[in-house]
Amino acid sequence: ENDILDKLPLRGKKILITAGPTYEAIDPVRFIGNHSSGKMGFEIAKASANLGASVTLITGPTHQKVNHTLIHVVPVVSAQDMYDAAHKYFNTVDIAILSAAVADFTPKEVSSKKIKKNHSTLTLELTKTKDILESLGKIKKQQYLVGFALETNNELENAIGKLKRKHLNLIVLNSLNDKGAGFKTETNKVTFIDDKETITEHQLKTKAGVAQDLLTEIIKQIDA
Ligand code: CTP
Ligand code: CA
Repeated sequence: ENDILDKLPLRGKKILITAGPTYEAIDPVRFIGNHSSGKMGFEIAKASANLGASVTLITGPTHQKVNHTLIHVVPVVSAQDMYDAAHKYFNTVDIAILSAAVADFTPKEVSSKKIKKNHSTLTLELTKTKDILESLGKIKKQQYLVGFALETNNELENAIGKLKRKHLNLIVLNSLNDKGAGFKTETNKVTFIDDKETITEHQLKTKAGVAQDLLTEIIKQIDA
């Protein structure tokens, strides 16, 4: 009935996206976080919805805003919250793109009271968080699973290691080496590696441009 909408390449597809940082509580007023702006994940969500997909966007604390009928935003705070939300939605989606900068470590104990400065040093014990992406790779059925890799050295080798270890269909290597690429910038320089280890290098682009390239690549791969 609606020819134009039927031609949207992701119409009828459900996509799960994670975005932003996570905050790991130390005490009632402090946390461990990182500089992720959430922009990359939000751009992927918008580009997906504009191609007709129904998007669940699980996001850590960020200033990003989106208002789109096809995007359902699920705000979370900690790595554990994000893990729980991702597992809640994963079974029902066709594609999952995990772009969040999840904390790798979290305080072993959260102090119920504000920590006072009445000592000269303070040691926090941290424990490793659950790897959300790896855990989804272990249970995935038909889902097309995409991860990111943020690397500063041995980039290709490390990214391919993550692709294999986490059972991904595609990994987006984000180079922090390049000027104008990374966390707080408006642009990214990415390389895609698929499960056949085919490597596609892209130019430095806006995050919206990277999102377009990524969805074009995913559509190509799921149609192949
Ligand atoms: N990731 C995740 N859950 C975590 C840590 C990472 O889902 N607890 C995901 C990220 O969203 C990203 C991918 O795993 O898609 C790779 O994250 P990255 O930080 O580059 O790699 P790690 O596997 O955490 O390893 P390291 O930080 O030691 O390089
Ligand atoms: Ca990490």
